[in-house]
Amino acid sequence: MTRIVVTSPIPEPGLDILRTAGELWAWQHDEPIPVDVRDEQLATADAVVTLLNDRVNASFLDAGPNLKVVANVAVGYNNIDVAECERRGVIVTNTPGVLTEATADLAMSLVLMVTRRLGEGDRLIRSGQPWQWGMFMMLGAGLQGAQLGVIGMGAIGQALAARAKAFGMSTVYTNLVSIGAEAEERLGARQVELDELIETSDVVSVNCPYLDETHHLINADVLSRMKPSAFLVNSARGPIVEEAALVAALQDGQIAGAALDVYEHEPSVHPALIELDNVVLLPHLGSATVETRNAMATLAANNVVEVLAGREPLTRVHS
Ligand code: DGY
Repeated sequence: MTRIVVTSPIPEPGLDILRTAGELWAWQHDEPIPVDVRDEQLATADAVVTLLNDRVNASFLDAGPNLKVVANVAVGYNNIDVAECERRGVIVTNTPGVLTEATADLAMSLVLMVTRRLGEGDRLIRSGQPWQWGMFMMLGAGLQGAQLGVIGMGAIGQALAARAKAFGMSTVYTNLVSIGAEAEERLGARQVELDELIETSDVVSVNCPYLDETHHLINADVLSRMKPSAFLVNSARGPIVEEAALVAALQDGQIAGAALDVYEHEPSVHPALIELDNVVLLPHLGSATVETRNAMATLAANNVVEVLAGREPLTRVHS
């Protein structure tokens, strides 16, 4: 009998599909699956559905000698040693596309929150401190005519640029390849070198994958070259930003603020960030809508179905 293991709770539409493909065993508790329980289940599993909290490395794969597919319910797959999976003939899949709009919505929300000081405003009301409307009260920075710098102009970066355009922003971007003249025209976007993006943007948004090459891409040197009035937004992966350097840049007033959905040592957050009023901190909510999470679980489950049926999955990842 084909066995499918799911290491964390996922939405029911995904589980329904997986039930059609074999015997399903799913961890259904909020706390992380204990390693011994996971390994016991992996021992006889043909497929495993993982989340970004799972470290799929050699010891994970040792526990599942019959695995044919690791289906990650996330677009990012830096939690998976894809090369090691490939070496063992295990197919890896992710969930691109279905979370683009939700994640771009969240990235744009971060831009608005940090430039308009919305977290600060919310905290003021909740603090119970007396307040009244004032001409100079909690002034933020307007977005009309401002420049967004998108580092990594994939689907999410482009969807963010479309939103930014609606708010009157122009976009410059860095990417391995150009997005093409039509997309640049439609989005009001221009490809530039990283140096120009860093030095001229009013908001710098990180939207690239986390790879060895992007580890600490945003470091002390980069932060020191941003405009003092500029904001940093990260909705991609925490370790792309050197958090200690970001704290120092914020404390020294080298940049105006930061808005983060992801953290270098997630779920830990650098304690100094919590102390800073010009920082927005969200708990990795990029794809967190009911519709999107259903679609992610459905896509991951369909990938499992395809691989177990001997077909190419819908969204395979290569090293
Ligand atoms: C992803 O998909 O990579 C997000 O970070 C989690 O939804």
